[in-house]
Amino acid sequence: MSIRLFIARVLASSALAVSACQPITPPPPPTATSAAPVAPAPPAQPTTAGQSTDVKQAWQASQHANTFVADADGNNNDCARCHAPMNWLPTSMNDIPATCQACKFNISPPKPVVQADWKNIGCKQCHKTEKDVVTKEVAWLNAAIAQFDTNADPYAPITSNTALCEKCHRDAFKIDLGKGAHANKVCTDCHDAHSTQASCTDARCHANALKPDKPIAGHDAAHANVNCVACHDAASWQVEPTGEKRIWLTLRPTDRTGTPNPTAFASHNLQKQVDCARCHFAGNPWNLKTQ
Ligand code: HEC
Ligand code: HEC
Ligand code: HEC
Ligand code: HEC
Ligand code: HEC
Ligand code: HEC
Repeated sequence: MSIRLFIARVLASSALAVSACQPITPPPPPTATSAAPVAPAPPAQPTTAGQSTDVKQAWQASQHANTFVADADGNNNDCARCHAPMNWLPTSMNDIPATCQACKFNISPPKPVVQADWKNIGCKQCHKTEKDVVTKEVAWLNAAIAQFDTNADPYAPITSNTALCEKCHRDAFKIDLGKGAHANKVCTDCHDAHSTQASCTDARCHANALKPDKPIAGHDAAHANVNCVACHDAASWQVEPTGEKRIWLTLRPTDRTGTPNPTAFASHNLQKQVDCARCHFAGNPWNLKTQ
């Protein structure tokens, strides 16, 4: 599965960058859009007078605006369920809302969707949108109803921002906030809902962590390349220098199928106390001092 995800990303972004070391799966033919009847698509991301351009720009820069993926065989209907719900076609009766009579005629394996027809995760996925005006309140668009049943309200109410995020950040993608200080936080306490950016040293959070009133071991220049969570992780994830800048970060132990395959990923399960020996252990491969 990790290979499928990897190849998917190769297809999605830049085939050139890796062409030297990976055989490239040809993308599906350009005509391979779904044959199922789909309601005429309204403009994907409506801009309306009075609509905050900040919000739109923030969203545009986020990964939610660039979610195209396909598996190694070029198929992506299952992926679209989270990556582009408006492209997703139900293939099982279980996925069809009882109210949706029209949907029931469309259960057949869908053809792959090409990038040009991919709908990303637009405003209307998370907000009721009428005549291109996006309302502020959040709601969840049921894609099956939206695509097939023009009479029913396709929006389901949402109890919290986290519940909205977890429509997709679930199952193998679920974020574990642990039992520590962040246990009861909602995703948008830290993440901007549109840019999806988050920072531990955000003004609302630990802005002065690295300039504490009383000195804190580890909150110093020697650890400038150590991400906060590499020290404060409570999930006992492995840590090591990651990425081009060699920033120390936690590694998620498995891939999305549960197969061991450590991958750089910010732990969300955090605690105050820190074990220096997590990195400064005898015989550590990075030659960090151990006294
Ligand atoms: C249950 C919802 C869900 C499904 C189904 C899903 N994804 Fe994702 N995917 C996500 C989320 C959420 C993220 C980003 C956040 C994260 O990595 O935790 C993501 C991230 C990715 C990434 C970025 C790299 C990574 O692993 O973090 C790739 C590539 C990807 N998915 C490919 C696929 C492919 C290919 C499929 C279909 C075979 C698929 N996904 C199906 C929810 C899903
Ligand atoms: C992934 C879901 C998601 C998408 C996509 C999304 N929003 Fe939001 N939006 C939210 C959430 C959640 C909030 C509430 C934020 C909070 O409570 O901090 C919100 C709040 C807002 C608000 C009110 C607060 C503010 O920041 O001004 C506006 C206006 C808004 N969104 C417009 C948009 C527009 C326009 C788009 C498309 C460019 C969009 N949203 C896309 C989830 C989303
Ligand atoms: C409709 C499904 C969906 C919803 C709802 C959703 N996300 Fe996502 N999110 C994704 C997918 C899919 C990706 C990965 C896109 C890619 O890389 O192809 C992603 C990516 C992200 C990333 C970037 C991950 C990275 O590797 O950098 C963050 C952060 C994020 N989402 C946070 C949120 C938050 C916070 C909310 C709620 C306000 C939310 N998402 C709601 C599907 C969703
Ligand atoms: C090199 C390891 C290390 C790094 C990196 C690190 N911390 Fe800490 N942090 C510590 C230690 C050790 C303590 C003291 C724990 C204790 O009192 O049990 C601490 C304490 C804290 C506290 C509690 C302070 C208090 O007054 O009770 C907060 C909040 C915190 N860190 C946030 C952060 C943030 C935010 C970052 C990233 C900007 C960060 N830490 C990076 C080691 C680290
Ligand atoms: C206490 C603050 C906080 C909360 C609560 C929080 N996050 Fe995060 N999240 C962060 C920070 C900080 C990062 C790292 C951002 C970076 O390094 O760019 C992050 C990173 C992520 C990533 C990318 C991880 C990676 O390394 O690729 C995803 C996906 C994500 N968060 C989703 C969520 C979702 C979904 C929720 C709600 C269930 C959530 N987060 C709640 C602070 C938070
Ligand atoms: C997540 C890994 C990690 C943890 C946990 C950690 N450190 Fe470090 N530490 C480092 C790195 C990386 C350096 C920088 C080494 C360099 O610049 O060559 C460093 C440097 C140091 C140095 C400077 C001397 C040296 O070895 O270069 C001291 C002293 C130090 N750490 C003490 C601590 C103490 C005390 C704790 C616990 C509060 C701690 N560290 C926790 C990774 C860590």
